[in-house]
Amino acid sequence: MTLTSWTQVETEAVRVRGTELRALANRADIAPFIWSAPHFEVDVAKQPIDAAVMAAMQAVAAERGLEAKIRALFAAEIVNASEHRPALHWALRGGGQGIPAIDAMNREAEKAARFADLARKGGLGFHIDTILHIGIGGSDLGPRLMWDALRDYNSDGPEIRFAANVDPEDFHEATAHIDPATTLVIVVSKSFKTPETASNAALAREWLVKHLGEGQANDHLAAVSSAPDKAKAWGATDDRIFPMDEAVGGRYSVWSSVGLSLQIALGADKWRRVLAGASEMDAHFRDTPLARNTPARLAMMDVFLHTALGIPNRTVLAYAHRLRKLPDFLQQLEMESNGKSAADDDAGLVGPTAPMVWGSVGTLGQHSFHQLLHQGMRQSAIEFVAARDAGAGDWNRGRALLANAFAQAEGLLAGRSAAEAETQLAAQGKTGPAASEQARHMDMPGNRGSTTVLLDDTAPESIGALVAMYEHRAFAAGVLWGINPFDQWGVERGKVLAEELDKALAGADPGKRDPSTLHLVQRSRR
Ligand code: F6P
Repeated sequence: MTLTSWTQVETEAVRVRGTELRALANRADIAPFIWSAPHFEVDVAKQPIDAAVMAAMQAVAAERGLEAKIRALFAAEIVNASEHRPALHWALRGGGQGIPAIDAMNREAEKAARFADLARKGGLGFHIDTILHIGIGGSDLGPRLMWDALRDYNSDGPEIRFAANVDPEDFHEATAHIDPATTLVIVVSKSFKTPETASNAALAREWLVKHLGEGQANDHLAAVSSAPDKAKAWGATDDRIFPMDEAVGGRYSVWSSVGLSLQIALGADKWRRVLAGASEMDAHFRDTPLARNTPARLAMMDVFLHTALGIPNRTVLAYAHRLRKLPDFLQQLEMESNGKSAADDDAGLVGPTAPMVWGSVGTLGQHSFHQLLHQGMRQSAIEFVAARDAGAGDWNRGRALLANAFAQAEGLLAGRSAAEAETQLAAQGKTGPAASEQARHMDMPGNRGSTTVLLDDTAPESIGALVAMYEHRAFAAGVLWGINPFDQWGVERGKVLAEELDKALAGADPGKRDPSTLHLVQRSRR
């Protein structure tokens, strides 16, 4: 089968490719391209889209049944077909009462909240100066993002340190200059079989036993997992094991007990504000018609840019120090959700699915890779994420960030021709062949689009709403691409090969492999 509505999208793509973006962006009415949502607005007026493009993508959404899929998500239906599961991350911020699985999750959340409150009050028998959060992927990136984003709100709680890599140096750096006696170690692993996390959990236990003795070590441990038996086998006691539901995907799990470190460090009030912001976004995504639904329209734009126009990557530029982990977080959320090629819909795929997602923090990228964004020969869908108040009330701290983010977006669109450059050089007294040659190198083509997500501020509610928006955007894009955004079969093979090669590096017969891999193993054996 094919997706009949895609034909019109391809027609619009041909038209848009033949239209200068500067002309398209010179819109008589910009309002239809400023998309509002709780705690932020999204300016897509500099992107190569117009009313006809969005109408064509709305028809794709209709044919893919996006509205019905959104209803299914919030009804806890099986939206993850290959694992035969619902996707219940939204329920962790207050939705879905009365659904048995969700009521059970809420009881788990209450256990975690009680523990967090007890821990903050010294009820574990020691004052907590540091939480050592051990996990990787979805058991790490969401907590890191939220901790960085909200640590300024951490007026009186402990600091969080993170260890994720199997390289012991990560653990050693994370435990440098902290006192085991005032450290709580939280091991987070949905499967509780991830090798990197198992390695760091063992290092953590050794570290605690070495400094505190076997007896006290356990007082400084907790575990979060969907496999409580495995957590118990590691040494966590029942009252220190916090379950997470199998129906919450790792990259969607920061709202669960995976965020226990945050609940302890930030406190119940600030954590409630994060969940409240996300819950407002859930209501927007669940209840708003697609024509005004911001996560859904962003997904439609993404599919148009990356599949119809074939733009191969998205560059996320987080213009706030507190949001510096956003690109890393979105890499997993979007590339592990939609980096797939197996259709989950009878109509099949219509073209390449998810883009590569990369990025950095602004303004650092301007002194690193923005040269290519302005004068390079590769396309990217550029997304600025900035806040009207990124300075926690200090307007001057945030103003420079806004000025730079807006300047980069304007420059990408407007460009600056060689002729304009030559005029500027002449005004400096530089004329003649040398000036013309220099001007040729100064040519900036422009016509490069961008999106600007403009947060009201970086308060807990805004961060919760922002992360929830990206979750729903990834889900909606998966539906439009015709794939399952909630499984991740592509990550399993590497783990199996790594186990085999670890044995080969230790001397075992490497078996039949490509010549390069055999050479590398041979070259690296002790
Ligand atoms: O291998 C990928 C992955 O399964 C991610 O989906 C997940 O977030 C991460 O590894 C960590 O998994 P776990 O929480 O089970 O340790």
